[in-house]
Amino acid sequence: MSKLKDFSCAFHGNENMANQKLIYPAATRNQEPILQVLKRFVTYDCAEDDSPFFLEVASGSGQHLAHFAPHFPNIKFQPTEFDETLLGSIKYYATQCPTKNILLPIQLDICTDLVHYGFSEESIDYVYNANMIHISPYECTIGLFKNAGCYLKPNALMILYGPFSKDGVITPDSNVQFNASLKSRNPAWGLRDISELIKIAADYSLTLIDTVEMPANNKTLIWKKN
Ligand SMILES: C[S@@+](CC[C@H](N)C(=O)[O-])C[C@H]1O[C@@H](n2cnc3c(N)ncnc32)[C@H](O)[C@@H]1O
Repeated sequence: MSKLKDFSCAFHGNENMANQKLIYPAATRNQEPILQVLKRFVTYDCAEDDSPFFLEVASGSGQHLAHFAPHFPNIKFQPTEFDETLLGSIKYYATQCPTKNILLPIQLDICTDLVHYGFSEESIDYVYNANMIHISPYECTIGLFKNAGCYLKPNALMILYGPFSKDGVITPDSNVQFNASLKSRNPAWGLRDISELIKIAADYSLTLIDTVEMPANNKTLIWKKN
């Protein structure tokens, strides 16, 4: 199955604003490998009244946090999404969560400074984003790093999942084809280069501390706020 098809969703119902659950096949496949990475990097030691705050940018269907949250019952998960038609599905997953630690979703454009959504600088413990920066204009990549740099606490992490190029080279062929198909749909889309991301990150006080190889030629990049 091509990656483009991977991002299609099984849609239940005619209208998604009324909390109908969406299922993205790709999210179903990658949620467990990503959870295993989170278990390595999302470590916390908190008092009962001090829940670490985990912000997801571009929640899509809402499946990822639904899969992660029960494994981290002391963390408060905040889903967000730009596309308002997805908020119903995200809300569905949040309200069904057995551990009740997923907040209701916020409609959020990552190109906008997070102060507009009520966030305070250096208040977030984790920023998480999967599969957005190659399927959105470059401004969204900049916005993600800029907001993470400003709103993460010192030493806090941004966890970024998706396909990437390295030093201008895309591997393997399936990712080359995926990149071409993205660009044919929108010339502003395309795989982002890790070397370029490292330069952007430096402008916003973030350092790449680990790169985890993932199934299907994806990676998880771990960034630390300086
Ligand atoms: C391929 S989906 C990934 C969804 C989910 N993270 C996943 O892995 O299943 C890309 C998402 O990026 C979101 N997106 C696009 N532009 C955005 C922006 N400016 N701010 C926040 N999210 C955006 C889209 O609405 C879409 O839900």
